Amino acid sequence: MTSWIDIGSLEDIPLRGARVVKTSLGCVAVFRASDDSVFALHDRCPHKGGPLSEGIVHGHKVTCPLHNWVFDLETGAATGTDEGEVATFATRIEAGRVLLDASVLEKQTAA
Ligand code: FES
Repeated sequence: MTSWIDIGSLEDIPLRGARVVKTSLGCVAVFRASDDSVFALHDRCPHKGGPLSEGIVHGHKVTCPLHNWVFDLETGAATGTDEGEVATFATRIEAGRVLLDASVLEKQTAA
């Protein structure tokens, strides 16, 4: 079952920035790309744990603020020669509100 949680309005997320949502799994970074699409990723770089929410968003990618690894916001995969993958979470926008798929969080907590 999908249970969506309202994490705020789209306007609350800076354009080409992110806001952090605390969940049972740790922090989730919710990004807003320049085209107003929204992506949610675990706020932890697989390299050395950098806060991706403080990274630079360009297109549908984010550059980690610590050592500049680049991750695809859609898949969570590292790009180029960088390695690793960040967990992604489903999001949707409804009437200007950003919703995060909480069922994934619950499932992963139970596993
Ligand atoms: S911690 Fe993200 S690139 Fe090193």
